[in-house]
Amino acid sequence: PQVRYYSLVLSEGYGSPDGFGRQMLVINGSYPGPTLVANQNDRMIITVHNALANEATAIHWHGLYQNTTPFYDGAHGISQCGIPPGQSFTYNFTLAGWMGTTWYHSHYQTQYSDGAVGALVINPSNATTNADGQPAWPVVTAPNPPQWDADFVVLLQDWYHSQSQDVLSLYMGPNGPDGTQGDEPTPESGTINGQGQYLGGGSYGNFSLQANTTYRFRIINSGSLGNVRFSIDGHPLTVISADGVDVVPLEVAGVQVAVAQRYDVLVRTNQTTGGQFWMRGSVLTDMFTYSIPNAAYNHLAVLSYAVPSPSSAPLNSSAPDPGPGVPGLSDLGTKDYTALSPAVAAPVPDSDVQYVVQDDFERTEDGSYFGYMNGTSWAPLEGESTMTLLSSSSFLSALLPGPSYPQGQYILTSPSLQTVDLILYNLDDGDHPFHLHGHRPWLVGTGPGAYEGQALNGTGAMLRDTHVVPNYSWIALRFVTDNPGVWAFHCHIAWHMGAGLLMQLAAQPSVAAGYGLPPQVAEQCAAGQGAQGVNG
Ligand code: C2O
Repeated sequence: PQVRYYSLVLSEGYGSPDGFGRQMLVINGSYPGPTLVANQNDRMIITVHNALANEATAIHWHGLYQNTTPFYDGAHGISQCGIPPGQSFTYNFTLAGWMGTTWYHSHYQTQYSDGAVGALVINPSNATTNADGQPAWPVVTAPNPPQWDADFVVLLQDWYHSQSQDVLSLYMGPNGPDGTQGDEPTPESGTINGQGQYLGGGSYGNFSLQANTTYRFRIINSGSLGNVRFSIDGHPLTVISADGVDVVPLEVAGVQVAVAQRYDVLVRTNQTTGGQFWMRGSVLTDMFTYSIPNAAYNHLAVLSYAVPSPSSAPLNSSAPDPGPGVPGLSDLGTKDYTALSPAVAAPVPDSDVQYVVQDDFERTEDGSYFGYMNGTSWAPLEGESTMTLLSSSSFLSALLPGPSYPQGQYILTSPSLQTVDLILYNLDDGDHPFHLHGHRPWLVGTGPGAYEGQALNGTGAMLRDTHVVPNYSWIALRFVTDNPGVWAFHCHIAWHMGAGLLMQLAAQPSVAAGYGLPPQVAEQCAAGQGAQGVNG
């Protein structure tokens, strides 16, 4: 295990990822930001410098446990107040648990939609101690793990041509043009590793491969709304991992990835023609309530490899996806959980306690539009310390078991080690990819309508950090509160989270209070930065 140092600088820049120029955000001057690669049990020391002129920021390491370091989770308003403009903040944590392919992104308002994203790849290690010389976390891998020769990150993102703050206020505000208020803002375009093609502009990424080789593609949906379908012409995909959880390998034609989810797939470069093939990252329109003229959703990159006599037919960018060329294969859809099962079948504990939470959207009297979790719409707490994980331990210790509503926030508290069933009932007409920080819940039940006491079943349940709740349906998520801290649970659609569709889990808060806070967190809170939430 190693100690790895990184430095990330968030700044504004003018860019045209898909050929359309706009003000956007970049990390170390690029979009997406650099891919961070490490091993389990390493220590990561990442200094983030906020070079924005007027906005605070916070960077979240999606899907990591942050065990004993909940204050480095990077969730603005929950685990830190925000890095003021011109200042830096150093995240410092070990990589525990079973991680795989994930990503990092700004967790300040809707900043990530403007380009503040990057990939994070954590490989297994069989070290017996971690970077601090403490006993290592056990590595959990399949008995006969799949093999591959080389790997690539494929970061897919739907892409907007306006600044995300403007997009969000049209969505939430009472005065939007017809067809915008309360209807999810529709992207104009999309990107594959920061490159897209809008109205004939933009550029194509290139993947130059070797023939007869097995590649692992690490597919990440870092978008704001749309499901994205990934496929490669003429090549089936073998899904081996979902949100970093190894799964029983599944051969499919394409994967449809919901926002914040990841799939790792193996691809064999074994077509006898060789040559060039389209890699496709198509933004699906099933979540869109209106359409944008001239929108361009079929994004392409070129995958090529040579065989002794390669076909010389040029690629035609308007040719339809010919499919993988293997009869009988279909897609893995965003709600196809039954098709996936964990490669390591660990027993799922029975639950100790059950909570039901409803999500919906409502219009206020002045016509503004908000997302609600059991009647509360999230915005950062008001006051001097604008975060839940307060510097005084009294706030955390005072959280009562079960639901509580400090300043209108819905916080579910588990004071001790418990197995919780969280039943999420979606009263909205859209699907929502819900992400629980610091945990990886099992899906132990789902069904249409309201939950009416149906039996839940952990046997063979799929676990991952982002689960989709279908429209007008419920899902039951089971997790153990073994990671003390305050953790966000939210819809990862940027506009829904921006509109307040977020609640918090306080897991063993008095233990978390005992961790104390790094002085830098308290200093940046005292600087009063990041106090304004979008709903505050
Ligand atoms: Cu990807 Cu709350 O995070």
